[in-house]
Amino acid sequence: MPKTPDYFAGKTIIITGAASGIGRATALIFAREGANVVCADIDEAGVKATAQQVNAKYGNKLGNTGNKALALNIDVTRRAAVGDMVQLAIDGFGSVQFLFNSAGAAIRRSKFLDIDDALMDKTFDLNVKGTLYGMQAVLPHMLANKFGVIVNMGSMSHRRGGAGSSVHYAAAKGAVVTMTMGVAREFATQGIRCMSISPGPIRTPFQDSAQSSPELLQRFLDDVPMKRFGKAEEIGELVLFMCSDACEFMTADTVYVNGGGGWR
Ligand SMILES: NC(=O)c1ccc[n+]([C@@H]2O[C@H](COP(=O)([O-])OP(=O)(O)OC[C@H]3O[C@@H](n4cnc5c(N)ncnc54)[C@H](O)[C@@H]3O)[C@@H](O)[C@H]2O)c1
Repeated sequence: MPKTPDYFAGKTIIITGAASGIGRATALIFAREGANVVCADIDEAGVKATAQQVNAKYGNKLGNTGNKALALNIDVTRRAAVGDMVQLAIDGFGSVQFLFNSAGAAIRRSKFLDIDDALMDKTFDLNVKGTLYGMQAVLPHMLANKFGVIVNMGSMSHRRGGAGSSVHYAAAKGAVVTMTMGVAREFATQGIRCMSISPGPIRTPFQDSAQSSPELLQRFLDDVPMKRFGKAEEIGELVLFMCSDACEFMTADTVYVNGGGGWR
């Protein structure tokens, strides 16, 4: 956890994909630590519900009399909307220290030979361009402040290739991991850190929709030595650690979180 007590108090994180799963869990964890949370998602009702949960639970802690969470209905595949997201966050809370790009999906399962242009484009628009837009929108502000931490969402699948069901998604997450490394190195001397997380199966609506059959569910579990799914909160706590001042030498790499399930 942070070296400095109350490290996150008064600081602000933008979280995309905050209406559900890992994004929502991370919003609640950062608010618990005293951070302001800008929750962005294409799911308007879901993102409002996240912000309401945060404000109901943490709105008045640490002397903060106003709301700690802002809900923004944003489609991360639209560059202009992502620019608005960052501006609204700055307008709302004064400055932004952290960005967690959690919005992402496999769109649908497909055998490799059936991946068409539409599926490839949608998958890259959401996972790759959505992440690119977020970083490009927030970096000028972070560079001006000489401080910022960006955490992007990869996946174990980028090491395994997604054979038989999601090569399109695995390739997109590979691009996210690579782009993260490039951004980290380009801005490493300017107060910016940029990292990614590559989880194995985490129990969220994403996994539920991926579990199209009991056989697939079993295959996921067979691959995890701990024989269980990860929890969204286990990823959220890691995002908190990565954004904290506990290990500021850490940048560029992806962190694998998978209950012992490696790649073969
Ligand atoms: N759950 C897993 O097993 C797992 C494993 C590895 C990686 N991931 C990655 O973790 C991230 C979070 O996944 P999750 O499990 O919390 O899934 P989730 O489905 O619960 O949440 C994803 C969120 O992204 C939002 N979203 C989708 N398209 C969007 C868009 N265009 N603009 C803004 N928001 C959009 C959705 O509305 C949803 O709220 C994703 O990037 C996913 O690929 C998940």
